Amino acid sequence: MTTPAAVIVDAAAYAQAVEEAVKASAAYYTGGTSALDDDAYDRLVRGIAAWEAENPELVLPDSPTGKVAGGAVEGDVPHTVPMLSLDNVFSAEEFTAWTASVARRIGHEVTRFSVEPKLDGLAMAARYRHGRLTRLITRGDGTAGEDVSHAIGTVEGLPVRLTEPVTVELRGEVLMTSAQFEHANEVRTAHGGQPFANPRNAAAGTLRARDRAYTVPMTFFGYGLLPVADTDSELAARLGELAHSDLMAEAVRLGVNTPAGTAVSALTAETPEEVLARVREIAALRAELPFGIDGIVVKADLAADQRAAGSGSRAPRWAIAYKLPAVEKITRLLDVEWNVGRTGIIAPRAVLEPVEIDGSVITYATLHNPADITRRDLRLGDHVMVHRAGDVIPRVEAPVAHLRTGEEQSIVFPSACPRCGSAIDTGEQRWRCENGRNCHLVASLSYAAGRDQLDIEGLGATRVVQLVEAGLVADLADLFTLTREQLLSLDRMGETSTDNLLAALATAKDRPLARVLCALGVRGTGRSMSRRIARHFATMDALRAADAEAMQRVEGIGTEKAPSIVAELAELAPLIDKLAAAGVNMTEPGATPPVAASGDTEGGQAAEEAAGPLAGMTVVVTGAMTGALEKLSRNQMNELIERAGGRSSSSVSKKTALVVAGDGAGSKRAKAEALGVRLITPAEFALLVADHLV
Ligand code: IVH
Repeated sequence: MTTPAAVIVDAAAYAQAVEEAVKASAAYYTGGTSALDDDAYDRLVRGIAAWEAENPELVLPDSPTGKVAGGAVEGDVPHTVPMLSLDNVFSAEEFTAWTASVARRIGHEVTRFSVEPKLDGLAMAARYRHGRLTRLITRGDGTAGEDVSHAIGTVEGLPVRLTEPVTVELRGEVLMTSAQFEHANEVRTAHGGQPFANPRNAAAGTLRARDRAYTVPMTFFGYGLLPVADTDSELAARLGELAHSDLMAEAVRLGVNTPAGTAVSALTAETPEEVLARVREIAALRAELPFGIDGIVVKADLAADQRAAGSGSRAPRWAIAYKLPAVEKITRLLDVEWNVGRTGIIAPRAVLEPVEIDGSVITYATLHNPADITRRDLRLGDHVMVHRAGDVIPRVEAPVAHLRTGEEQSIVFPSACPRCGSAIDTGEQRWRCENGRNCHLVASLSYAAGRDQLDIEGLGATRVVQLVEAGLVADLADLFTLTREQLLSLDRMGETSTDNLLAALATAKDRPLARVLCALGVRGTGRSMSRRIARHFATMDALRAADAEAMQRVEGIGTEKAPSIVAELAELAPLIDKLAAAGVNMTEPGATPPVAASGDTEGGQAAEEAAGPLAGMTVVVTGAMTGALEKLSRNQMNELIERAGGRSSSSVSKKTALVVAGDGAGSKRAKAEALGVRLITPAEFALLVADHLV
């Protein structure tokens, strides 16, 4: 979706817009933080371009439309070949129009396209002499850039030595991955600095900083390889003739990092339609990438086509940036709410001045935990960079520190549980009410009664509130000892509802261990982890006898999670005993406990590696199920997958063996297509697992 261009009404507004864009652009290229986010900048420049098209005689010399990089700082190292910018398109129609214009110019359709991610970092030229990295130069104004060779050795993927002693110039993007950004801000704030607003800023600021007491790593992705004046003439001739895709393969051979090997590696495509399909795939993968992209770069792949198309002064005519909607906007942090969840976790949530990001209005964003707020040095009233991509929960990336007025207030952390007033356990990163899951008993019981847990029909939130308020239920186990008289004493509870609820509670007592575990809400174990734990240990007794080491034998439980699960089960012991005494089932049908002696895992493993049509396969379900599977909830689909020997997962990756794609499947289907994962329909899947349908 394209956001509209800024509307410029007269020459004065035009001059002001140019000034604003130049300032924003300078900040963008020098690591400062602009008051404009990318989207606002794009709209401004498109507004400027529209006005200039109507008033060509009034175009100002420093307009960002005419420059390689509008307003960029000039450096002192001339580029061997200008570092050009890229023209943008924002829709499939604009892209198709661009391919047609290139075809007209070169006299035939583009032979082959290369499609690669547009990495959201800073352009860099890396000069290698006889295989050794000698100089790093920023893009600057495109004709000359700044020498940032001091960063040599801190940029992963940019080897200090190539695998061959060649003299070449490598071009690409320097950025920070999400993990590098988090690390950089941690180190920077620990040294008393202000956090960077986003990874791009962090990379720009870090690259330009000299003489810092610390270094933080960045990452390089190559997208160009060219000969320089003293390149061996044979090599120069060879590079000049190579297709872009072959040049990139050459870069990889020399030891350089490129998008190859990531989920968005460069591909070639024969037709504009194929390009558009890949654009959709990359867009679908964007939210889960560990680095930022702001579009897709499409290039004519063959050197001959590139030569025929030529370049303008600002951008080549043989390449185009297909921009994706901005996923970041600047807005204000109005308040911080502290909400208590069903397990007693007290989670901070940012209340924002509403802001539209990629079609949705965002009013709340996660703030993770108190330590995270401190680490980011957030203050009430701050302008903050908010990030939202795909279905991922919006998050506050960091404050835009230079927009501070001095009137911002510090964020006050609660000193007692905001719900029940009990003390807070601040021993871990995530704070927790000392009253634990009893603090928000209604939430914890409603969750336990839910369809994917104990599935107690007739026990909705209203009924739970009634039971708690009447003092009939103080924990989960109390539900199972409720008497007919007690239930009849409640408002709007007639004979029929009472009998139905008692029957539902009796049925719930027989649910498999996996569901009981899930109902208990052990932190860090959702539905699928509960199923894995239950299948591994088979009985609650075996599970409770497990120490952290034994717990780690369950797939997906690592050194961090294992002790916390063990500790939480110990904390839950009285409740578990009470549930068992009330007659709640504590075993997993079909599973056998691991052989306890000598820490042997045989039994549990054997149970986990159950045979079945999906043995050894990781399966993802997406879209609406139909036919025999129509009535199954997502959780029941996952249970079915596991009964058939497979492993269910909610996200598609290279490890996924099968994706069941129903009606309306979107980004997960696209991702499966991108990764070449096998896709099947609900009907095909129902046939495959027919013996395991209940
Ligand atoms: S090609 C002559 N490929 O986007 C071709 N650029 O908006 C110019 N960028 O200056 C560059 N990913 O900093 C190219 N895969 C990619 C890119 C890419 C990011 C950046 C680069 C360029 C800017 C233009």
